[in-house]
Amino acid sequence: MEYVTLNNGIKCPTVGIGTFMLTPSDAERSVREALKMGYSLVDTANAYVNERACGRGIKESGIDREEVFLSTKLWPSEYENPNAVDETLERLGVDYVDLLYIHQPAGNWLAGYRQLEKAYREGKAKSIGISNFEGKYIDELQTKWEIVPQFIQVEAHPYFTQKELRKTLDKYDIKLMSWYPLGHGDKSLINEPVFAELGKKYGKSPAQIILRWHTLMGFVVIPGSKNTDHIKDNLNILDFTLTDDEMAEIAKLDKDQRYYHRTDEQLVQFASWHPQFEK
Ligand SMILES: NC(=O)c1ccc[n+]([C@@H]2O[C@H](COP(=O)([O-])OP(=O)(O)OC[C@H]3O[C@@H](n4cnc5c(N)ncnc54)[C@H](OP(=O)(O)O)[C@@H]3O)[C@@H](O)[C@H]2O)c1
Repeated sequence: MEYVTLNNGIKCPTVGIGTFMLTPSDAERSVREALKMGYSLVDTANAYVNERACGRGIKESGIDREEVFLSTKLWPSEYENPNAVDETLERLGVDYVDLLYIHQPAGNWLAGYRQLEKAYREGKAKSIGISNFEGKYIDELQTKWEIVPQFIQVEAHPYFTQKELRKTLDKYDIKLMSWYPLGHGDKSLINEPVFAELGKKYGKSPAQIILRWHTLMGFVVIPGSKNTDHIKDNLNILDFTLTDDEMAEIAKLDKDQRYYHRTDEQLVQFASWHPQFEK
């Protein structure tokens, strides 16, 4: 495994498994099998409504809790719930998480961020992060944070490399965790000829080339999958590297194109949506 060192000295694996849109049974199985294969980073969220399942997957894997870097996210409905962190830990079946995000800049997000800082001071979150806080949101947070976050989780892939945001991240040594690293499985991205060519050269699939590109950009990558072969492939990316020229070829694909466009109306909806947590 390769690791990034966070601005508080903690090490985080560069490759993990994402669990967005996985049903509890798929999440439980994917997490269990991934950990058995050698993964050590799991990303979930209150909103994925599969935290209990991820916790079960971790236990069933037989891997020690300390060997797993567990990341989750508070949903806006929880930002003003004083028990949100403890309830999240209870669902996951752990007494700390390695990384705790606030998921969206919606509702009273500053209250949510204060909860992260409190959890960090109490040792309930070993590191903290912001998710989807690009542009004006990270600008405002910078004037208010007491603890600089270790991570930001945002959409990133070869079509959208977060060039602007990375200037701020570099200033504070905040690491980027890419969501939609494979364009949410979009064929036009995966089928770009450059990935097929490089795949042929290195004996890898186009998806593996894309994921390796992320890690060489310094990003942590958490591809989602419920397919055991893909889960295996997505970890098997650290035995080769791309040259500077090859990275420059891939850089030409950047067209500042997101797959997901969030609107202000959606932020309002996010703030009023309450996940129906698993019992
Ligand atoms: N913070 C946020 O707001 C936010 C938003 C979205 C996602 N996320 C996080 O980021 C993670 C990744 O995002 P994502 O899962 O939506 O998108 P993704 O990883 O870009 O794409 C997932 C899709 O790619 C396919 N896939 C996975 N590995 C593959 C491979 N080796 N070859 C070909 N296809 C492959 C999967 O299908 P199969 O199941 O068939 O493999 C699935 O359809 C999420 O699971 C979640 O943890 C966070």
